[in-house]
Amino acid sequence: MARLQIDKVSKRFGTDYAVREVSLDIADGEFLVMLGPSGCGKSTLLRMIAGLEQPSTGRILVDGADITDAAPQQRDLAMVFQSYALYPHLTVAKNIGFPLRARRRSRAEIAQRVREVAGTLELSALLERRPAALSGGQRQRVALARAMVRDPGAFLMDEPLSNLDAKLRSATRAELIALHRRLGATFLYVTHDQVEAMTMATRIALLNAGRVEQVGTPEELYDRPRTAFVAGFLGSPPMNLFPAEVVSHEGALRMRADGIDAALGLSGGPDDGTAVLAGIRPERLRIDPAATTVRGRVTMVENLGSEELVHVATGAADLCVRAPRPAGVAVGEDIGLRADATDIHLFDPDRGLRLTWQEPEPAVQDVAAASVA
Ligand SMILES: Nc1ncnc2c1ncn2[C@@H]1O[C@H](COP(=O)(O)OP(=O)(O)OP(=O)(O)O)[C@@H](O)[C@H]1O
Ligand SMILES: [Mg+2]
Repeated sequence: MARLQIDKVSKRFGTDYAVREVSLDIADGEFLVMLGPSGCGKSTLLRMIAGLEQPSTGRILVDGADITDAAPQQRDLAMVFQSYALYPHLTVAKNIGFPLRARRRSRAEIAQRVREVAGTLELSALLERRPAALSGGQRQRVALARAMVRDPGAFLMDEPLSNLDAKLRSATRAELIALHRRLGATFLYVTHDQVEAMTMATRIALLNAGRVEQVGTPEELYDRPRTAFVAGFLGSPPMNLFPAEVVSHEGALRMRADGIDAALGLSGGPDDGTAVLAGIRPERLRIDPAATTVRGRVTMVENLGSEELVHVATGAADLCVRAPRPAGVAVGEDIGLRADATDIHLFDPDRGLRLTWQEPEPAVQDVAAASVA
């Protein structure tokens, strides 16, 4: 069991920052998922916590003790690498049992734990093979098994399911959720997969170019993105974002762009004519022939099986609408769309920050901003 604190950690390679002033406070027993585009610093951050990379500045604490300079084996953490990092000369069984042998457990105990974990991850038939004779997905499961065989204070996992097929991925995902519940251990988990992030995380930290954009529950990030980057990163397809203007009309505020005119339901707010970046999620737009909020022309209809994605061009934006199938519209048709005022997100067009006058600030959840005790 462990609380992990990352206190203003930066990592520079030459003159470039891979990680910039990142602070995170991960409570004991949390399942924190780190999300972000390729190259944003996720692996570097994980490697620094594991002790495989030295921070340029900042501190890392486990249960309040500063471990920034501790050797990897002195940290009670198990890591699953993006690249598996198996011992090529050892069999699967020996690879899985390695952490227990290093801790001088009895032969009988090691054999039993290896059998259990191998069974859980469907590796029982492969125990005598060497890594070279395994598929990518099998190697990944061996790497997971090696971490799961012991009972560390925290698990650090770098895209541990990326090479598994859809069925095995969803089974292993359930396995990890169960493992987390059973052990009550702290998980710090890196993924590209939004489904993994939304389903597994107690909180998500979204990174962008070495910095934390937002930390919060999956619902907070999805429903109240703090920045336009978060809004555009989460969701598939992502939130529609387009430049617009806030205008005051007959005593009420409206958001307007070419082909778009929506009530905002705000009492107070910005000056008439304020430029904003507006956002509406595809599933929050509804096709309605009589609607005047959005008027546009259908440019494409994509059939996803259960749903359809309808692309609608207004003068100002190309909007994606997610609708039950059949959406009942054809390419070239002029249609209307409706959206509730509460589903419209507004951001500062320069810095991309959510405009605070839109709604009251929530209780402070953003521990990235909180200082480490
Ligand atoms: N040893 C190194 N020397 C120089 N630059 C490095 C080194 N390791 C990482 N970087 C750079 O640091 C940045 C962050 O890399 P990192 O591997 O942490 O990204 P990531 O978020 O894990 O990406 P991905 O999702 O593709 O795995 C990248 O620009 C990368 O090129
Ligand atoms: Mg990586």
